[in-house]
Amino acid sequence: MGRPLPHDLIAQASGLIAGDELKKAALDYSRAMREKVERDQGGLLSVFDGWFARVVRRLTEFDASRPWEESVRESAAQAQAYGDLQWDLLRLRLFLDRWRQGRFVTFAERERSQIHYHPRFGTEFGADVLLTCQGAPSLMRWRGQPLMKNVFDFAMYPALIAELRPRTIFEIGSGLGASAAWFADHMAFAGVAGRVHSVDRVKPALQHPLVSFYQGDCHAPERLFDPDLFAFEPHPWLVVEDAHQNVGGVLEQFHKYLSPGDYLVVEDSDIKRPALRGFLCAHPGDYLVDTRFADNFGRNATSAGDSIFVRTKADESVAADDGRRGE
Ligand SMILES: C[S@@+](CC[C@H](N)C(=O)[O-])C[C@H]1O[C@@H](n2cnc3c(N)ncnc32)[C@H](O)[C@@H]1O
Repeated sequence: MGRPLPHDLIAQASGLIAGDELKKAALDYSRAMREKVERDQGGLLSVFDGWFARVVRRLTEFDASRPWEESVRESAAQAQAYGDLQWDLLRLRLFLDRWRQGRFVTFAERERSQIHYHPRFGTEFGADVLLTCQGAPSLMRWRGQPLMKNVFDFAMYPALIAELRPRTIFEIGSGLGASAAWFADHMAFAGVAGRVHSVDRVKPALQHPLVSFYQGDCHAPERLFDPDLFAFEPHPWLVVEDAHQNVGGVLEQFHKYLSPGDYLVVEDSDIKRPALRGFLCAHPGDYLVDTRFADNFGRNATSAGDSIFVRTKADESVAADDGRRGE
């Protein structure tokens, strides 16, 4: 109880949403949340909904003419019980800072706001969760094969597939084949008639009626898949880069064929940020991070931190750069 905020967190929080803007965002979100709870959840509050409502109720009991940050800081100095409220206020500010940016955000904006989060992964988790979220000691499995996804991705991809309804999934880096089979099964669960094309240096032995496995090398990206697949496979596409080799070259190859509304997911992006920066600088305004999937379980609770991209239409990129809400 009453654990004070460390000084570095206080310093970083100074760049977050504050003052009247914070109060307005909190009230706007409270309204949106109430509507969502009635519309989508049959009136039942999630843990997060209940927490948010409680914190805002406590904060609105302070003198309305002063910023919440000031009131909470002073109260925490006087009474230990308010120490927890300092943490809750920080969590609230982090959440609302993201929420006000809207659903679709430029990669550059995501990198700028990374300062408030884990320095390498951009998440709000510590190293413990990151170390074990693929399963430790045992990986998750699908159709008997080890699946190299983390538990957040395990929930995120089915939601993405259900919303996007991709007719074609390209996977670069098959592993033992479990992820391609898992994607295909989720296409089928979503009632989508589609196909997964998955490539690796070593073709897996696993077989699945909706998956075609190929042997190929990221260092020859134009030959990763048959040119007819690039040209004729139906959209929307979901492209998942998970081989970690010649990432820039592979993304450039797909860029030639991606259509507006297609998704491009780059896994393990913490080690690929220079390649991503280069690729996105070469195609300004063409890709936006979809925070609905990147942040739904907490900021960047995915192995594809800041790298679940939607290929934009020209007018969408302008709207997002203006900072307008994408929902
Ligand atoms: C992280 S694993 C893929 C895991 C799998 N997608 C999953 O989620 O279960 C990376 C894969 O990339 C493949 N790979 C490495 N270098 C490659 C290259 N130059 N071209 C094609 N595949 C490559 C490896 O053989 C390995 O199977």
